[in-house]
This record gives sequence, structure tokens and C-alpha cells, in this order.
Amino acid sequence: MKIGLLDSGTGGLSVLHEAFHLLPDEEYIFYADLDHVPYGTKKPEEILAYTTEIVRFLIDRGAEVIIIACNTATSVAVETVRRLYDIPIIGMEPAVKPAVSHSRNRRVMVMATPVTIRENKLRSLIDKVDTDHICDLLPMPKLVEYAESEVFESQEVYDYLEEKFSGFDLSEYSELVLGCTHFNYFKPCYRRFFGADTEFIDGNGGTIRYLASRMNLIPAMDDRRVYFDSPDDMLDKSNCTYYVSGRKVTDETTLSHIMRLHNRLEEVRKF
Ligand code: DGL
Repeated sequence: MKIGLLDSGTGGLSVLHEAFHLLPDEEYIFYADLDHVPYGTKKPEEILAYTTEIVRFLIDRGAEVIIIACNTATSVAVETVRRLYDIPIIGMEPAVKPAVSHSRNRRVMVMATPVTIRENKLRSLIDKVDTDHICDLLPMPKLVEYAESEVFESQEVYDYLEEKFSGFDLSEYSELVLGCTHFNYFKPCYRRFFGADTEFIDGNGGTIRYLASRMNLIPAMDDRRVYFDSPDDMLDKSNCTYYVSGRKVTDETTLSHIMRLHNRLEEVRKF
């Protein structure tokens, strides 16, 4: 099956990476809108326009199902694009529900982009599941920029996290929700601030499992396979075409950037 994924940038690779692990034999098209990243600080109308155009682009290239691998674009645009196009369109939302149910009488911190935090979708999810008011919301726009510049374990990132986390007693949190697909790259950095008993939750595995059940791909799902052990191995095994804002990626520089990010995602996968 041909599966299209889109994100404002390279955050969506964390969803694609999970798909490579769980559904290694499918065909993928990945679209990163690097001309317009970040989405998380833009106006909803702009995000809606970009998302609508990208979904059309992916359908025109044969996608049979689309994952909006971006919490921000999902919160603004998923309902509209589902009305416009008649193929299955799967969105992502911060994994607040599992986080609240795992929370063991402690608190839940939900990190996302400013747009995701402002939009009604997250608000109504929280109203529904956070009946004991244990969730705190934290916008983290700069992590998107750091991820796009491949700045991960560096003093700048630690200083930013320190500033954003100041004012919270982090020992109160049993769950940290990574409500933006760019945030996975920083798992080792969060661990410097949160104790070993704080669980980091993202929606990536859940989204791919949902895709598998929705598209009857469960028999193809492989939970055990270690997908690749080097960038070359990954190039050999995966069937994915990458696009950057409508341009097919063929140059070595961008391909090796993507490979480095897949390697980083492999490193942090079980963190
Ligand atoms: N990766 C996206 C998300 O999940 C958007 C980040 C951005 O472009 O601000 O929210």
C-alpha cells in the first residue's frame, strides 16, 4: 500500500521511522514542508492552506492513505481535509489519554507547539480526559528550530529546557507527553531533568498501529524486526520517496541529512 506522510519539517520522520519498524514492506511518500517550517507559530489559515495543498500533492502521487504526521497541522486542518478528499486521512494528537491513564496519581506535562496548545482540539481532549486537572500545558516552539538545525544534545537546548521547566516541580510528573513530532529527537535531553520513573509518551506507535488496523495491514505488522543497522542498510530496505516542499529529494546532502535523522531516531527510540 502507498502511504503518504506529511509534516512541516523533519519531525514527521519520527512517525515514518516507526512505520519502517512496524510496517517495513509498505511503500511510503514523505513530504516535509521545509519552505514553511515552523507551522507551530503561524496563523491557522496559513497552516490550513499548506496542509490542503500537500494532501492534494500526495494524492496526485498515488497515496492511498495519508498520515498528517504533525500535531499542529492536524489540530487546524484535519477536519477540513477529510471533507475535501475521499481517501482515509489519519491525524495525530498529543497522547494525553494514555498519559492520564498511566499517571498513578501524579501529574502529566503536555508539551506541544503554541498553535496546538491554543486550538480547540487539544482543549476539548483535555476537558474530556483530564477530569482531575492533572495536566499542565507547555509550549516549546524553539525545539522545532533546534531539531531542524540538528542541534540536539547541546548547551543551548539544555538552557532552553531549564528555562521552560523552571517554575515546575518536575518530581511531581509521572508522564511527559511529546505533543509535537519534532520533540522525539530530544528524549535524552529531557531525561536530564526528569527522574527515571517519568514516562515519555508520544503518539507515533499508536498512530501506526491505528493505520494498520484501519487499512487491514495488521497481518503485515512486524513488532520485532530491527529495521536497519546503518544508513545504507536503511536505504536498501525502505521504500520511501522524500519530497521537500514539492521537490523530490535526490541530492546527497539532503538524503544524508535524512539518514542522520533516522539514525538519531533509532538511538532515542527506546529511551
Ligand atoms: N512537527 C509538528 C507538530 O507535530 C509541527 C512543528 C512546527 O512546525 O512548528 O506539531
